[in-house]
Amino acid sequence: MCGRSVRPTSFGIGSEADPGIRLEGPVSGRPQPLDVDFVRGRFPALTGPFVFFDNGGGSQILQPVVDRLNDFLVRHNVQLGASYPLSVEAGRLLSDAQRAVATLINASDPDEVVMGPSTTALLRMIASSIGRTLQAGDEIVITTGDHEANIGPWLELEAMGARVRWWRPNPETGVLDPTDLEPLLNERTGLVAMTHTSNVLGSIHPVADVADMVHGVGALLCVDGVAFAPHRAVDVQTLGADLYAFSFYKTFGPHHAVLWGRRELLQELPGHGFVFVSEDDVPYKFQPGNVNYELSVSLLGILDYFGELDADQEGARPMGAAVPRSAVVSAYERIAVHEEKLVRPLLEMLSAREGVRIIGHDTADRDARVSIVSFVSSRRSSREIVTAVDAHGIGIRHGSFYSSRLLDELGIDAGDGVVRVSMVHYNTSAEVDRLITVLDPLI
Ligand SMILES: Cc1ncc(COP(=O)(O)O)c(C=O)c1O
Repeated sequence: MCGRSVRPTSFGIGSEADPGIRLEGPVSGRPQPLDVDFVRGRFPALTGPFVFFDNGGGSQILQPVVDRLNDFLVRHNVQLGASYPLSVEAGRLLSDAQRAVATLINASDPDEVVMGPSTTALLRMIASSIGRTLQAGDEIVITTGDHEANIGPWLELEAMGARVRWWRPNPETGVLDPTDLEPLLNERTGLVAMTHTSNVLGSIHPVADVADMVHGVGALLCVDGVAFAPHRAVDVQTLGADLYAFSFYKTFGPHHAVLWGRRELLQELPGHGFVFVSEDDVPYKFQPGNVNYELSVSLLGILDYFGELDADQEGARPMGAAVPRSAVVSAYERIAVHEEKLVRPLLEMLSAREGVRIIGHDTADRDARVSIVSFVSSRRSSREIVTAVDAHGIGIRHGSFYSSRLLDELGIDAGDGVVRVSMVHYNTSAEVDRLITVLDPLI
């Protein structure tokens, strides 16, 4: 495998092939710790002493993604659809990328993969299609627990005649409880929009259960997976939602996003393509003006990487080799175990502090949460805490993160917001220890 040599990591913690990171059960038949040293070597930005804990804002990019991007721009930068070999090859790369995204999310049909510039843009686009199918009296359920990207587009459908009903989260934990959704559903419900994982709380919602409830009344479920996808394997078939979107710049890739939709639904909905694009022509009718070729093709690098993570204890899978879905699942299982190990000491420290409120669950359980931890302190404003931490070369962040309705529900001033520490699998226990040492006298 190209580029497999491991570069030094930030703090001389290069040997965090941490013997403490052990899987509690077999992964693909063989328990393996995540080799964090190898992982960090695949992210070219992770070289200096800066501790990057603002991954919820956007993660660092993978070297294989940069390589794929570079290769496309330098060697394949032609318009698709011509008969000369280079155009044919470029077209093949784009199809490969679409299949790679399908593998990443376990879509059964690559044509169900719609790509676009951002989750916000894709949700807005699909909401406007759904709006064109609304009938008088149709109801839409949205949540105050979501990022605004999965609220605003649906709220705008009020102007097109929809009645909006709000599913409110638990006022203590901020978590969405399906039992609170039940009374909001009826035969007029057309769609429910929810988040898989809150970008503030890190808690994981039971999407499959909600999908059953929503389908029980014949409605559609649209899920924002932006804060879930960097941490756990998205499986659109198991989840059972009708629409699922997330952004690759938070999942180790570029500013590019995917909206998955069930094929029959995408075929039924009015598109945004040119008049000569047929209504059966998915995903093209939802990609007006076509997709960004180079960013789409660069996504192959994310799948390359998950193939490496699956195989890194046993020798490389050659770059460009077909990576099976099982590799994605295996890689994410190892990621989840590592994340839980990062989260636990931070939560323990925060829980022990008087005057500190952890926003969301205080469990480190990887089935219940991802490695996003938010809190407020009665001793200092969130802004003061973050500014003080900045001075130690550790990047965290405060604010409402476009989830100010959630903060309102929790009684938190959305102006100052929460302190958010958003970690991903390339972060290390040594980095968490360093943050704890810095936070200790501050909160
Ligand atoms: C949970 C969540 N949903 C949606 C978005 C919007 O994603 P994009 O920037 O791709 O529009 C974000 C971005 O921060 C997010 O955190």
